[in-house]
Amino acid sequence: MMSSINLTIRNEGGKDYRAVEQLIREAFWNLYVPGCNEHIIIHNLRKSSDFIPELDFVAEKEGLIVGQIVYSRGIIKMQRGEEKEVIGFGPVSVLPAFQKQGIGSTLINHTINLAKNMGYSAICIYGDPRYYSRLGFRCAEKYDIRTSDAKFAVALQVLELKKGVLNNMPGRFIESAGFAVHENEFAQYDATFPFKEKTENRSQQEFKLLASLRY
Ligand SMILES: CC(C)(COP(=O)(O)OP(=O)(O)OC[C@H]1O[C@@H](n2cnc3c(N)ncnc32)[C@H](O)[C@@H]1OP(=O)(O)O)[C@@H](O)C(=O)NCCC(=O)NCCS
Repeated sequence: MMSSINLTIRNEGGKDYRAVEQLIREAFWNLYVPGCNEHIIIHNLRKSSDFIPELDFVAEKEGLIVGQIVYSRGIIKMQRGEEKEVIGFGPVSVLPAFQKQGIGSTLINHTINLAKNMGYSAICIYGDPRYYSRLGFRCAEKYDIRTSDAKFAVALQVLELKKGVLNNMPGRFIESAGFAVHENEFAQYDATFPFKEKTENRSQQEFKLLASLRY
């Protein structure tokens, strides 16, 4: 798909893996914590049975990969015991020099439409509601959906892909085990990338605050 800003949206291929991980590392480094884990999370997610290759996309501009989005399956474990399959995206990122040009929204909207056509019921994500509410996401509390440890969280957001599909389905969102962080394994994999300094900064404080809004 080409947009008016010469952006190509296409599926990620095996030959793109390293470039995509580099991109993710550039976009997330020191943003939410000193360093970042997201490039290792995608590396693990791609090997997981929850990975959805049909929704794994990159955005390319003049041959350079400038953005990416990846989806995986998760579940809503309902209070009455049943499980409902949902999907989630993340990491999603755009190279810093290309941010705020609509590339992130284009990737998200493109894959939302595709996921709808593929028959998925809903998307659950953790992220900043100031961004995702613009794209149609609503706080999960509206649907009585909690975190895996049964809390409402401001960062947990939901988009129904079929209207009403989450009505009367109170439960807990459990994301793919592919998101689990293994400190030693992560440090080893990060060491295969060029050195970058870990620093503390203000965006990390903001993230801590957002992540703490659980009740
Ligand atoms: C989040 C991200 C993918 C958005 O991509 P993008 O191409 O910059 O987004 P768009 O151009 O479509 O939209 C940009 C708008 O969203 C806002 N926005 C982006 N991230 C935001 C955030 N975390 N909180 C609030 N607003 C945000 C921008 O301020 C901008 O607003 P403006 O148009 O009023 O200036 C990109 O900023 C990024 O890679 N960030 C670092 C990695 C990251 O945080 N990923 C998401 C983790 S949940």
